[in-house]
Amino acid sequence: MSDNATFINLFKNQLRNTPPKIVVLTGAGISAESGIKTFRDNDGLWENHRVEEVATPEAFVENPALVYRFYNARREQLQSASVKANEAHKALAKLEKAFQDNLLLVTQNVDNLHEQGGSNRVLHMHGELLSARCSRSEKTFVWRDSFDENTPCPCCGGKTLRPDIVWFGEMPLYMDDIYNALSNADIFIAIGTSGNVYPAAGFVQVAQEAGAYTIEVNLAPSSTNALFDESITGLASAEVPALVEIIINRTAGL
Ligand code: OAD
Repeated sequence: MSDNATFINLFKNQLRNTPPKIVVLTGAGISAESGIKTFRDNDGLWENHRVEEVATPEAFVENPALVYRFYNARREQLQSASVKANEAHKALAKLEKAFQDNLLLVTQNVDNLHEQGGSNRVLHMHGELLSARCSRSEKTFVWRDSFDENTPCPCCGGKTLRPDIVWFGEMPLYMDDIYNALSNADIFIAIGTSGNVYPAAGFVQVAQEAGAYTIEVNLAPSSTNALFDESITGLASAEVPALVEIIINRTAGL
């Protein structure tokens, strides 16, 4: 990516002598180069399963053993030595250092690679793999091992533990905080997301209505690509660090 003329609008309109407020949304594409498969790049199959088989409350009622097994495998894979934060995750941690409270990082990803890359404040709107939730109290627990229907819940001792994942048909987390930040954003950046799953796919419109400059970084134009002011096509590990450098350099001293 070159620091080219198209960004002139961004810096003319969005920078008014104060640091811009930035919202970044990430999706599976940012973790693809870390060895975690995306959802929609494999004939609609996610690790050989249709999403409805493993990522809906109905699937959990019908075949809990399969759902536990599936997320246990994902949790184990995430903790394998070969899965590591990549340059895109690290660049967003650098952006957090530079912008502090003026940056909100929202991820649809359930992996912990943003945290591994150095980000401290990440909203996991679709839940987290390294967490288990009591379906009675809704309390969550850091969880690195496998668990299933027979694992006693730490808070009530019952057979109530489920993966701490937001399944299709369930309400994503932190929505008030996210919409609040989007309505005050000067810059909105979506990285590695196909734009197929709402409400996240609608964030670009909310940000745009609030007057934000909107940028997409993706391997190929997403379903919502036409809604963005700027579209950067390429690998997240190369494009995100370059974009972060531009933003930090151009806002230095504000
Ligand atoms: P998808 O798998 O739908 O989309 C991933 C996007 O990343 C695609 O548009 C790819 O082109 C792009 N991509 C792949 N490799 C890339 C790379 N190296 N650099 C940049 N872009 C790359 O994933 P999401 O949009 O995140 O929900 O999916 C949204 C939600 O659907 C997920 O959070 C999950 C899923 O079902 C739940 O589990 C609730």
